[in-house]
Parts: sequence; C-alpha cells; structure tokens
Amino acid sequence: MESFDPNIVNTHYLQNVMGLAKTHGVIASEDIFDAKGIKLIAKGTLVNESLQERLIRFKLNKPLEGSLDVEGGISSQKLMEQAQIVLDEVTPLSMLMKSGASGKAVLAILKEIRFNKASTLLLSMEQGGTGTGFRHAVLAAVTGITLGLRLDLDSAALHNLALAGLLHDAGELYINPEFRNPGRQLAPEEWKHIAAHPRIGQLVTESTPGIPRAVSIAIGEHHERPNGFGYPRQLTANTISKLGKILLMTELLCGIFPKTDQPMERSCLAVKVIPGEYPPDLVSLITSSAQGAPSPALVDAVRHQELVERVKRIEPRMEAAIAHIETTMPGNTGAADALIGQTRERLLMLRRAMYSTGLYGCKDLQSHETQTSGIALEMDTVTYEIEWRLRELSRQITLSMSSLAKDDQREYFKTLVACLV
Ligand SMILES: [Fe+2]
Ligand SMILES: [Fe+2]
Repeated sequence: MESFDPNIVNTHYLQNVMGLAKTHGVIASEDIFDAKGIKLIAKGTLVNESLQERLIRFKLNKPLEGSLDVEGGISSQKLMEQAQIVLDEVTPLSMLMKSGASGKAVLAILKEIRFNKASTLLLSMEQGGTGTGFRHAVLAAVTGITLGLRLDLDSAALHNLALAGLLHDAGELYINPEFRNPGRQLAPEEWKHIAAHPRIGQLVTESTPGIPRAVSIAIGEHHERPNGFGYPRQLTANTISKLGKILLMTELLCGIFPKTDQPMERSCLAVKVIPGEYPPDLVSLITSSAQGAPSPALVDAVRHQELVERVKRIEPRMEAAIAHIETTMPGNTGAADALIGQTRERLLMLRRAMYSTGLYGCKDLQSHETQTSGIALEMDTVTYEIEWRLRELSRQITLSMSSLAKDDQREYFKTLVACLV
C-alpha cells in the first residue's frame, strides 16, 4: 500500500468532499492550517472547488476530516429511517434474528450511536457519492449488531459493531472511483488499490477522535480470513480480533443478503465452501438460521446448462495450475519459494472444497438430478466462491512476483497465472 499520511489530503477523498459540497453546505468548522502553521482556510468558510488546490498543495497540521461540518448530512434520524428500510426489505435478516435478536433490539443500539464530524462527513459522502453506499453501510451495521446480539455481546461491543459496520468501507472513499466500477475487470495493479481499502479505513478512523480503537482494528480486518487467506495482511484466526471476525462475516453476508434468490441458503453454502475459512461459532449460527427455509423449485434447462458450463470451466484451470507447480520448478527460487508453496496450498484447498461438493470430476453434471434447485444453488454459489478466489490468487501472484521473483522466474509465474484466469 502507498504510504498514508492522514495530514496529507487524499485527492479522491477531496473529490468526494467537493461532490458533497454541490448538494450540501460543507463548512470549515475551525481554522485550517498547513503543517508550518500558516492559515489556509478560515473558520466558517464554505468549502467549494476554488479551495481544492490550496488543500492539496500543502500538508496540513491535522487531518482535514475533523475540520469540516456538513449541513443536512447524515443524522441519527436518517440512520434510523434507513435501518428500518433495511429491516423491512432484506428478508434473510429475519431468519438470522432468532433468540436474543430482534429488529427492535437492533434499532435500540443504533439509536444510541452518536456521530462526530468526521464520521458524519464520511457517511454523508457514502450516501450521495461514489462509495459502496449508505445502504450497504447500514445493512452492515444491522447485520453486525444482529450477529453480536446472537452471540450475547455486551452493549459496548454492540455499539462498536454498529460503528464498525457503518464505517467499514469508508476507505473506499480514498480510492480512485474508476477502480470501483462494478463492471470493470481489475488488473492486479488496480486491484492493489482496492485491497488497501480496509487498511486506509483503519488509518482514517484511527486518526479520528472519538472512534474506539477496537472499531478501527475491526475495520482493518474486515476482508481477512481466519485461515490466513484474506487481505490485506493475511492475518490468521488468533491474530484477528473478536470484532474483526464478526465484521468479516458481516461483510460476506452483506454481499449475499440483498440477492432475491434464496440469500440465506446461499450464505449457508458460502460459509462452508472452504472448511476453516470463517469463524466456527458464526458458521454454526448461520447454518442453524437457514434451517426451515422453503424448498426451492426446479431451475430451468437454460439456467442449468449455464451452471454446468461454469462448473466445467473451473476444473481444467485448477488442474493445469497444480500440474504446473508439481511438474515444473523454476530452480533456485529463493524468496519465491514461499509464494509457490502458498499457491500450491491454496489450490489444493480449493480442489478439496470442490471435491467435497461432489461437483468436481462429476461425469454426470447434465443429469436431471443436478437440475433440482438445491444442487443448482450449490453449483451457483460454489462456482462463484471458487471463481473469485482463483481470480484473487492470480492477482496476488502477479503482485508478489514483481518483488519476489528473479527475471528468469517471471515466465514460470506468468504461466501459472495464465492457468488460473
Ligand atoms: Fe470492504
Ligand atoms: Fe462492504
């Protein structure tokens, strides 16, 4: 990740501030000074594009985030309204709410959340700007609190989960918005920026007064995985905080819950695809929540064929990559040894996961039995989960090889990546 200094104004963040300033009054809540103590902007000044240049040219004496107020920005009332919409519309939440959790209990926690200047500004930008969005932030807060209630966490931890859920993707506001375009296939160098958003979010919230440290840490961990295969730091189960484990599960669920087609069953499959990938207490909580879900109907033949093709495409890619590692060695690999070993380990883990579904190597994928929607759903979820992991693996190899591999080893890694994509 590029070095991050909270006193240097991030240009993408500033673009988002300017975007917000077009629809809301954004005002300097105090005098803004540069690092040498020269006043750049006086308290009460309405921020607009004419000030942009001045804010970027100089390093400030404190983060800009804490020196701006937004008129008509996110308030407790707007949060409560959006939370109620989420509770009404995101149906799997009601399945997740068994003993100890209820919409009322979730709303009671959210009602007590107090925003400071920086978090009001960040959330206001998420609402109107280019971030993942306020709705996603509120869904994460509601889902995180629900999981916390089911785990009987105390009220301080529940408040922290609410705040961490609301701000977990705030780091995205500091990244080039082009990389967040959902239709764009990211090159490894571009993905590197996206992969930095948890860390940026952690650093931004760490330098924001009033945000508990546990919240910042959890934000930095929300794409990690207990088995060490997450990002950006590949932390493992014993180094990820309790709150971080709940938040990473929350982020996964928030990607699936808005789907209209059996979201709870999909979540249940997704958390089990790779054994050990998610915290076991949360996995069993989600599995038990999915029980009693209505049986799905049969999928149509066209959709079924599409799924069969997707499953079939995975096998040769994984096998070619494993064969490449097991039959060719680049010789005197040095630092690249660990990268090869880790890639092999991940591929074998993904192959085991595919085998355990019964889909891998199955000669009879076209059969009528696999057209039943339970199996079709499994095909869809499992292939989706494996596909993005293969994509992520190829990006990580590409990024790591530029610093690890010697010139004569590049071809070896290029072939490996070519097998995966
Ligand atoms: Fe994220
Ligand atoms: Fe997210």
